[in-house]
Amino acid sequence: MILLIAGRRALLAPWLDAAAARGHEAIVEEDGARALAICLAERPRVVLLDAGLAAPLLAGLRAGDPPAAGGAMPHVLALFPEGNSAAAIELLEAGAADVAAGPWEERLAEARLRAIELIVARDDERARVEQALRESEVRFRHLAEGSFDAVAIHDGGVMLDVNRSMLELYGYTREELIGRSALELAAPGSRDLVRRNIASGLEAGYEGEALRKDGSRFFVELRGRQVPYDGKMLRVTSIRDITQQKLAEQALRRSEESESTLRAFYDTAPFRMGILELDGEVLSIVSCNVPAARALGQRPEELSGRRVEEFVTKPSNSRLWLDQCLEAIRASGPVQFEYVLGDGAERRALSATVCPISARDEGRPRLCYVIDDVTERRKLEARLQLADRLVSVGTLAAGVAHEINNPLTYVLGNLSLAARELDALAAPGSAQPAPAQPPTPPPTLAEQLARCRSAVALASDGAERVRQIVRDLKLFSRVDGGQRTAVKVRDVLESAIQMTWNEIRHRARLVRDFSEAPLVEADEAPLAQVFLNLLVNAAQAIPDGRAAENQITVSVSTGERGEAVVEITDTGEGIDPQNLPRIFDPFFTTKPVGVGTGLGLSICHGIVTDLGGTLSVDSRGGQGSRFRVTLPPAAARPAAPREKPGRVRGRRGRVLVIDDEPRVSAAIAGLLSDEHETRAVSSAAEALALLDGGERFDVLLCDLLMPQVTGMELFSLLCERRPELARRVVFLTGGAFTEGARAFLQRVSAPRLDKPVDVSLLRQTVQTILARGEI
Ligand SMILES: Nc1ncnc2c1ncn2[C@@H]1O[C@H](COP(=O)(O)OP(=O)(O)OP(=O)(O)O)[C@@H](O)[C@H]1O
Ligand SMILES: [Mg+2]
Repeated sequence: MILLIAGRRALLAPWLDAAAARGHEAIVEEDGARALAICLAERPRVVLLDAGLAAPLLAGLRAGDPPAAGGAMPHVLALFPEGNSAAAIELLEAGAADVAAGPWEERLAEARLRAIELIVARDDERARVEQALRESEVRFRHLAEGSFDAVAIHDGGVMLDVNRSMLELYGYTREELIGRSALELAAPGSRDLVRRNIASGLEAGYEGEALRKDGSRFFVELRGRQVPYDGKMLRVTSIRDITQQKLAEQALRRSEESESTLRAFYDTAPFRMGILELDGEVLSIVSCNVPAARALGQRPEELSGRRVEEFVTKPSNSRLWLDQCLEAIRASGPVQFEYVLGDGAERRALSATVCPISARDEGRPRLCYVIDDVTERRKLEARLQLADRLVSVGTLAAGVAHEINNPLTYVLGNLSLAARELDALAAPGSAQPAPAQPPTPPPTLAEQLARCRSAVALASDGAERVRQIVRDLKLFSRVDGGQRTAVKVRDVLESAIQMTWNEIRHRARLVRDFSEAPLVEADEAPLAQVFLNLLVNAAQAIPDGRAAENQITVSVSTGERGEAVVEITDTGEGIDPQNLPRIFDPFFTTKPVGVGTGLGLSICHGIVTDLGGTLSVDSRGGQGSRFRVTLPPAAARPAAPREKPGRVRGRRGRVLVIDDEPRVSAAIAGLLSDEHETRAVSSAAEALALLDGGERFDVLLCDLLMPQVTGMELFSLLCERRPELARRVVFLTGGAFTEGARAFLQRVSAPRLDKPVDVSLLRQTVQTILARGEI
């Protein structure tokens, strides 16, 4: 320790000795001014001062440079050679730490020095601690200012200091925050929590909601700690804005929720759906929903990674899936297709949509798929189509009856004429004219026979006409859909014209403009339904009674791409442009209730597009309309030359005719009686009785639908009891099939003849069976 001993050396000798004895370095200076200079420069920790120099030196020390931070004023001991208490008081007031009055001896001086050492050491320690504290506060402030978190120092909630981040976070100025309660920065719902945590001195972090100056709220994480600050224990709280984190958590929660919602939707959707992946030409399942897995008798997790071809039993369907997926990828969009699974009652119609999705795994394209079972929908559509067809026929019934009545009139007329001629032949003279009239020569036998033959010929012409009408009607009532054959459009159109003739003839002239057209692959009944609706629409667009001024033109031709084109053009009221886009909508009609249901065109559109064709319209209000149907040509196939069955010469056999209408069985038996031995019965029971009674027959001509035991039941019985006879059954059908009858005919291979039977075909069929030889 450096000691400055200021004063006369001789006088202060005991102090010098004591300093040496205590191991201190002592600077001795007798001049007061120089002593002050040394004091300021060297900063001795202790100054032993002759009282005579003391006052100016103390004043100089006070006025001089303040001691370095933390450095204390030197400990000044004023030395009085002899007692002078007034001067001592004065010096103590001027800043001296103590006074010591002489006479001094060395031991006392040494003891005094020791005491001073203790005081100085204690003072220095305190100064050092204070300095360290000050430095730590500065460091803390720097730290707080540099922190990204908001930091507030508060005393029981009253803010004493805050950093810049805090100001930015809460939107206040420093002046506004200092002295404010920290609770005001908490949103009302979080205030109690903050208050409790301050009071308990909680050091763990916690979350709350904070309030900005502008009233907006945000989420914060707070962490408080007790720290010494400015000589006191205060609480420092760091506050972190966790709004983004919270939002992210919420978003995550929401996305987890929405994922589970999506999964639930996926699994409970009434469709089979999933994701496929294409690797070259191999399609495999990435994932699928529960209904899709259930349809395959599996659980979704068992299917991922499996190949589609494992589950698609028909190779053609497997190929179809692959082709459609490739097409969807090529078109970068959804592709829809239909296919059929199973047979008979198990048969299901499925509609699938595949669509490429952007998610890719190792560059392999992925597609999502949805499969809907449209079996019921297709059945319903077919039923609706049929209902519409039957409604049309119902509407046209009056016209049809009229059409039948005309030929029937001359059938009956001519038959009674023939009968009269025959009567006259049988009883010559009875048909003589009254005697009042001039006698006419009786007709010769040849003349009578000629008249008879002509009447019969006219009657059969009429019957032929009735047969045609019935054939047309049968076409419209057919329910055995789905049988597509190569069809001549013109014939179907002609049937439709016949059916609608009564509607047309009072309204317009009908012009046929038929040129060459290809055969089309179609089911005749629905196609006829299309033409029928277009013709009825055309007729209904023309007012009744102005037939001479109006015209309906029906044309058939070949289109540019080889397709069959049918146009039905009318000179009727035309279609309002605003209705034009809606006429193909189901139930759109401009006709009064009871006249139109508005289903016609929508069904026509369905039928035509189903056949791969198009249906379009061209019309302006008041200027008539033109409907155009195009149909793709049937695939070229050699037309089976339909042999004109001539009179067949063959073996004479025994034929049993079974029909519940005795006149039909008798007529058919009669037709065959010149070639065969025939027997007619009117029930299956009678037939069985004959057979059981040992009667032998080569051919059984059997009506399909009969009361009590039907032809089908008889056939089954024969299959069981007399299989050799079952193979000799030919069914006679009236054209009106029940669902069961249709399925039955598809199942069995027995030949079938439609009533009214074509005589030559009947003879030929009988001969074909006889040609198999005797039983
Ligand atoms: N040739 C036509 N001339 C004028 N308008 C037509 C013609 N064909 C169709 N339309 C209009 O289109 C509408 C829809 O025709 P669509 O055949 O679908 O139903 P509908 O004839 O009204 O009833 P439905 O055919 O079920 O008995 C008709 O109501 C009519 O307004
Ligand atoms: Mg219509």
